[in-house]
Amino acid sequence: MVPLRTARMETEAPEKSPGHLFRYTDLHCHILPGMDDGVSSWDEAIAMARNAVKSGAFRVIATPHVMRGVYASTPDDIKAKVAKLKARLRESGIPLAVAPGAEVYLASGTAREYRAGRLQTIGDSGYLLVELPPLHLPAYVRSELRDLRAAGAGVILAHPERNREICRNRDIILELRDSGVLFQINAGSLMGVFGRQARDCAEFLLKEGLTHFIGSDAHSGQPAAVSDIGADISAALRQIVRLSPSGTGFLDQVEARVLRLLSGKL
Ligand SMILES: [Fe+2]
Repeated sequence: MVPLRTARMETEAPEKSPGHLFRYTDLHCHILPGMDDGVSSWDEAIAMARNAVKSGAFRVIATPHVMRGVYASTPDDIKAKVAKLKARLRESGIPLAVAPGAEVYLASGTAREYRAGRLQTIGDSGYLLVELPPLHLPAYVRSELRDLRAAGAGVILAHPERNREICRNRDIILELRDSGVLFQINAGSLMGVFGRQARDCAEFLLKEGLTHFIGSDAHSGQPAAVSDIGADISAALRQIVRLSPSGTGFLDQVEARVLRLLSGKL
C-alpha cells in the first residue's frame, strides 16, 4: 500500500461526549458541491455537515463520484475543494474533520488510472473506494481487481449490498473477501431505503463480520430525503449495534480500522 500520513489531529478520535451515543467516521458521503450528484451548494454542504455532527460523526471522507465520461474529478480538484470545505466548516464553527476520497466506478482500465495517479484514494491511504453497477457483476471485475492489487492499491467495495448479483450469490462476497477486498455498507441499507434485498444482504454482512466500514452515502443536506437518509444516521447506528455480534464494540473496531487506514497501517 502507499502509506501516506494525514494530519495527526484528523486521525485521532475525540473523546466520547455525553451528547452522542457514538463517535464515528463517515467513510462515504457526497459533501463537496459541484463535483457530482451530491450537494449542490456550500450551504447544502454545511447543512450535511451539521446533520453528520448531530449523529456523532467527527470526521467525514468526502467521496465524490469518479466515473469515466461522467464525473472526472482529479485528486487535485478534490483536495482543493476539501480545503475550501474545511475553511467553511471553521468559519461556521462546525467540529468536523474532512479528508479527501472518491467513489470510483470500477471499470476496465481503473487499475491503469490508479497507476497513473489519476484516482484519489481514501485519505491518500492507497485504498480506493470502488462502486459496481447495481444489477450485475461485469466480466472485467475480477481481472481489474487483480490488476489493482498488482498495482499496490487496496480496495474497499462501496455498498456491496446494493448489487443484486452479489446479494443473490453470497459466495461472491466470500470470494471477494478472500481476494482482499474490504466492504463498506450504507447506513440507509439497514433502514430499508434500498429495498428488502439490500437490507437482508447488509444484515448478513454485519452479522457475519464482513463489514469493515460504514458510510452514510449521503447526497443531500436534507435530514431524511426519501431515497437518501442523509448524513444523520443515528437510527442506523443503533440498528448496527443491535445486529452486530460485537454490539457496541463494533463501532470502536470500525473506528480503529479507519485510524489504521488513514495512518497507512492497514
Ligand atoms: Fe456514493
